[in-house]
Amino acid sequence: MNIIDIINKTKKSQELSDDEVFWLVKSYTDGEIPDYQMSAWLMAVCINGLTENETFALTAAMRDSGDIVRLGIPFTADKHSTGGVGDKTSLIIGPVVAACGVCVAKMSGRGLGHTGGTIDKLESIDGYRTDLPLDEFEDILRQTGFSIISQTGELCPADKKMYALRNATGTVDSIPLICASIMSKKLAMNADCLVLDVKYGSGAFMKTREDAEKLAQLMEKVGRSAGKKCKAIVTDMNSPLGRNIGNSLEVKEAVELLQGKSKGTLYDVCMELAAYMLELSGKGNFDECRALAEEAVASGKALDVLRETIRLQGGNEKICDDVSLLPQPLLKYEIRATKDMKILGFDCEELGMSSLLLGAGRLTKDDKIDMSAGIVMNCDIGDQLSADDVIMTLYSTVCSDFSDVAVRALNAVRFKITEKPSYT
Ligand code: URA
Repeated sequence: MNIIDIINKTKKSQELSDDEVFWLVKSYTDGEIPDYQMSAWLMAVCINGLTENETFALTAAMRDSGDIVRLGIPFTADKHSTGGVGDKTSLIIGPVVAACGVCVAKMSGRGLGHTGGTIDKLESIDGYRTDLPLDEFEDILRQTGFSIISQTGELCPADKKMYALRNATGTVDSIPLICASIMSKKLAMNADCLVLDVKYGSGAFMKTREDAEKLAQLMEKVGRSAGKKCKAIVTDMNSPLGRNIGNSLEVKEAVELLQGKSKGTLYDVCMELAAYMLELSGKGNFDECRALAEEAVASGKALDVLRETIRLQGGNEKICDDVSLLPQPLLKYEIRATKDMKILGFDCEELGMSSLLLGAGRLTKDDKIDMSAGIVMNCDIGDQLSADDVIMTLYSTVCSDFSDVAVRALNAVRFKITEKPSYT
């Protein structure tokens, strides 16, 4: 086998054998194929796609490039969202599902571009440790049924290397490559059931619902072909999920939801995803499982799970009762409507970038995050605002000049002036 033949085959849309795909992934991970040749192959995939069989083989080869987690726990459930703006669902769904008796064992990542990462959000809780060894992870899971830690370096090294290369070569946005990247990590985590939340819209990798559905179907097929119970749903990311964007702001919103203080789209998406996880875990039909999930919030049991998990991971669990203990920003900047207006839509990616520029994300991988930074949206699509109403508030401790970010954030809002002109 050689790399030139493999690049040429994919360039001509000829199907690679399983052996060829495994050889390619192993040789690249071992450093035997240089980045420039792998980039050429990735670009050929972006242009011509892969067959289902090639995608299954690519996922399996990437999964097998590192360790496969084997927890001594009889049944675990996992969920994955494909990345969005303001997406704090893992912080809510994990405790909810655990409170209903199903163990949720999750490894998560850090923020990527305009999208936030669950690990960064959790690290905004004073003391919370995300880099636990597997035996401590397992111990917490046995005690509370829920834990999230950061992905270990031994899991899917092929994806780590390929993802960095894709990021630098404009080859991220390919359905089979995204599928293999996500599913290899999820299969290496080895949960018994898996719910996938595939986002579409201006803040998501998939810009259209149609593409998100293709990705969802492919991920479901890959999961099932690997023997997992798997359900993928598509959800809207044309508005930020919930009101808060940014690390401690999102933890605050998740805690407030578990305190029973908020309903709305975030609540509905979380209850739906939790219900699917419970259904796949054999807790009843979808409606029964949704009722279980809602009860876990209403009774406070889900918040109890979160509180105990934070404590066991070394974090200040008191934030579950007093969100003012989370990092607080020194500065705030309100963006207000100058006239009566109707909100028509958002460019969510730009809102995510604005939050990043306030300090909530990284421009380079070594940048330090301002845990207090971010945006609180004060409106949603379809809302009617009056002159002087707040559209959104920007928060930061490190940003010295809000005006550039404010212009960018305001440009991310599409609106129509509804005020009647006055000719006096
Ligand atoms: N998230 C991943 O882990 N991989 C992708 O390719 C895209 C999103």
